Amino acid sequence: MSNVIVVGAQWGDEGKGKIIDLLSEQAELVVRFQGGANAGHTLVVNGKQVVLHLIPSGILRKGKKCAIGNGVVVDLAALKKEMDGLRESGYAISANNLEISENAHVVLPYHKALDKLREEKRAKSKIGTTGRGIGPAYIDKVARDGVRVGDFRSLDLLKERLYYIVQEKNLWIEKIFGGKPLDAEELVQESLDQAEWVEPYIKNISVTVHQAMKEGKNILFEGAQGASLDVDHGTYPYVTSSNTVAASACIGTGVGPTAIDKVVGVTKAYTTRVGEGPFPTELEDEIGEQLRKQGNEFGATTGRPRRCGWLDMVLLNHSVRVNGITDIALTKMDVLSGLPTIKIATAYELDGKTLEIFPTDCEILERVVPVYEELEGWEALPKDVKTLKSFPEAAKRFLSRIEELAEVPVSLVSTGPERESQVGVKKLF
Ligand code: GDP
Ligand code: IMO
Ligand code: MG
Repeated sequence: MSNVIVVGAQWGDEGKGKIIDLLSEQAELVVRFQGGANAGHTLVVNGKQVVLHLIPSGILRKGKKCAIGNGVVVDLAALKKEMDGLRESGYAISANNLEISENAHVVLPYHKALDKLREEKRAKSKIGTTGRGIGPAYIDKVARDGVRVGDFRSLDLLKERLYYIVQEKNLWIEKIFGGKPLDAEELVQESLDQAEWVEPYIKNISVTVHQAMKEGKNILFEGAQGASLDVDHGTYPYVTSSNTVAASACIGTGVGPTAIDKVVGVTKAYTTRVGEGPFPTELEDEIGEQLRKQGNEFGATTGRPRRCGWLDMVLLNHSVRVNGITDIALTKMDVLSGLPTIKIATAYELDGKTLEIFPTDCEILERVVPVYEELEGWEALPKDVKTLKSFPEAAKRFLSRIEELAEVPVSLVSTGPERESQVGVKKLF
């Protein structure tokens, strides 16, 4: 039995979904612990692409249980759409393979409206949120004004609370932001309809996880976003509104830190970022364009082009430290194929001084200049191989250099979007 956390080690979209889908072959339970429908996790199975926003990426495997932990903010409309889409593609979804924490907070239409209105108001200093209501939903949670999934079991109380809350939210929407007020009647009816189908899925996820542990099952804790988007350890204020780091898996599902065996940090072989904020190794030239094209770097949730740049070891080492990463899963190695040389940032320079520690102060981060190490590139990677033996020497050197700099082994290498395109270097379960 083993409990493994999988987190994004950069600014999100590292390929967590693909890695979870792969590892879920050996896990019996996959639990999401934070974030919401701002996440977009893409899996390619049997030549078909599936994008998941809220449902854990273990769902495509028969007989596996998936759970949405208390740390997630759940948009029930988005969840229903996702469930229906999966069913249309032939996947069975029921209370047998999907559970939702009674303590998870619900993202309601006023959260989405306020997210968009706040962004408009921020004008030049906008964050570039996904508009999925994530910030406002977490605000309500911490302010103790939230509505939880478990509240959808008591219809009369839910109705009463929602009427009251919508009145207050409409004041904000109209008077502060000049937006269009929401129709309370419509919102309440929508919620009551949701209450009907969601009821059988509502569970105590902490108990589900502990029961699985007692039975000696392998458990995967699925993170969303990435360490640099963490509200405490990321590039604040250009972050999401939850803790994305590994420790959040415990709070977001209801288990203690002593239960965790491994933390897998997923990183691309280069770096991407969607939305605003500093990005020291960003490439605004033809190499950046090539990475975007070859890597199909467009957001899975909003379709926005992702900003692309070289691998940044200062950022990755920060991520190793704040997450306690024990193993790296390196994705998109194939996207670098064909480049004559590849750069890795090993430090930053600021006002004549060398920085080796990632500054989370955005004003500093905007001014740093990366110090690069240049490595030889490789033409192509072998397809469908299960060891690194037949990899070009330059590709092997690239991997060893990352291990040396991060002081953590690269335990899995991904060489394409498909489930099969990967080399498992070290056992994770
Ligand atoms: P996540 O949010 O971390 O799950 O990542 P996304 O799914 O948003 O973005 C990763 C994208 O890269 C998806 O389109 C994946 O299908 C794709 N992908 C994952 N691993 C690889 C890989 O090794 N090579 C290539 N070319 N694409 C990959
Ligand atoms: P996955 O799980 C990449 C970014 C947004 C924005 C900031 C705040 O697919 O890796 P939010 O809507 O969360 O308030 O937006 O965070 N962001 C992501 N970027 N991948 C994600 O998720 C993201 N989720 C949020 O672009 O910059
Ligand atoms: Mg994504």
